[in-house]
Amino acid sequence: MISVVVMTPENIESFLDSILEIERGSFISPWSKNGFLQEVRNPISHLWVIMDEDGAAGGYICFWMFEREIQLLNIAVHPEKRGRGLGNHLLREMIRVGIERGMEQVGLEVRTSNIKARKLYERLGFLAVGRRPRYYQDTNEDAIVMSLNLLNEQSAAKH
Ligand SMILES: CC(C)(COP(=O)(O)OP(=O)(O)OC[C@H]1O[C@@H](n2cnc3c(N)ncnc32)[C@H](O)[C@@H]1OP(=O)(O)O)[C@@H](O)C(=O)NCCC(=O)NCCS
Repeated sequence: MISVVVMTPENIESFLDSILEIERGSFISPWSKNGFLQEVRNPISHLWVIMDEDGAAGGYICFWMFEREIQLLNIAVHPEKRGRGLGNHLLREMIRVGIERGMEQVGLEVRTSNIKARKLYERLGFLAVGRRPRYYQDTNEDAIVMSLNLLNEQSAAKH
């Protein structure tokens, strides 16, 4: 069964190797080990790992919850485990918990060329609301800014 494990300073060590392998297989400029450790110690940051049917770490999501907003910082699924709904599951869980905790909006930035991720966000109801020119320094690529209004989601869930 698929499950989501909340990372803490106590349990992260046993997940770090898997997280770093997925991170390095997913991004041109991957986060370092210290980057993940820093997030797990940050009280506004949430880092969750998704375990697949085999009980192995399949991916993770990292986001900040502050005031009434969620900011998505990182999401990745193991290259061999993509297209099975793990990414979708992580995002839906983030949205569910966000609504439960009174969050009103989710914001994120995505590379213009990352069509797969953009489609996934769009299917969940995110709208493109802006563009940050040359936001990614490694490739000089623009970021698309996307936003999901959780107040709409909340009323949609009630009807
Ligand atoms: C973006 C990312 C996290 C998506 O994760 P994922 O687990 O592959 O996503 P999902 O499986 O939920 O959805 C992706 C696709 O699989 C399809 N899918 C979902 N569940 C499925 C299932 N059970 N069977 C078959 N296909 C399925 C979805 O319809 C979707 O289709 P698409 O090819 O039209 O996009 C992953 O591609 C990744 O790690 N990319 C590299 C890192 C990255 O770019 N992160 C985003 C930074 S902004």
